[in-house]
Amino acid sequence: MTPNIKPLIAGNWKMHGAGGSLEVLKAAAEGFGEAAPAADGVICVPATLLDRASRVVEGTALQTGGQDCHAAEQGAHTGDVSAEMLADAGAAYVIVGHSERRADHGEGDATVAAKAKAAWRAGLTAIICIGETEAQRKAGETFTVLETQMAGSIPGGATASNTVIAYEPVWAIGTGLTPEISDIEAAHAHIRQHLKTQLGAEVADAMRLLYGGSVKPGNAESILSVDNVDGALIGGASLKAEDFLGIARAAG
Ligand code: PGA
Repeated sequence: MTPNIKPLIAGNWKMHGAGGSLEVLKAAAEGFGEAAPAADGVICVPATLLDRASRVVEGTALQTGGQDCHAAEQGAHTGDVSAEMLADAGAAYVIVGHSERRADHGEGDATVAAKAKAAWRAGLTAIICIGETEAQRKAGETFTVLETQMAGSIPGGATASNTVIAYEPVWAIGTGLTPEISDIEAAHAHIRQHLKTQLGAEVADAMRLLYGGSVKPGNAESILSVDNVDGALIGGASLKAEDFLGIARAAG
């Protein structure tokens, strides 16, 4: 972690969960404050659950977020959801540029940047995701890929309060595989360094850098103790309250 940065424990339910899952959310919300009194917490639920989810977490230390948003405020975009709509449904955060959106919907860096700006416009904190594929890693391109994604996906105007960066190696997502701790440390140090040139040292030094990809209660402590890892973005393990809280406990 980084001294003076409040960690963020973020869950991403992806396309999982209907009304019955609100019980899981309730348990996570009720336990979060005690599990991680020094951290912020959010669970990014499917859009259909957001309004109900936001009511469930009300009065607890846990907040809600969306998983994607359209760049426009409104308009003829069938099936899309705007950042303003997420905010109206109680969201405080929105994930943009998740690798599953980049892969499944062909979202490039410019689209991701436009979505991040939309998040800010609606008063949401954007969780901007970056990360290399397995092929890029094997080709030794990890740092170049991260630099390109940062340059293209993080708009000017990013601050430590309107933006969180999530480093998620694509090959580690949902696979049970994680990089070596030394690789996570090197990637996060590189991201922080690059952000200094892109956004200035003051912003970069205060910005939260999350690690994501197969974070579990069993590896959370070692991952969260890495320099420049200021929290986690958690997919599968956020679907169980006890696992999410187990990870939160590691953030203290
Ligand atoms: P995972 O997903 O924890 O299931 O690997 C992380 C993510 O995609 O945000």
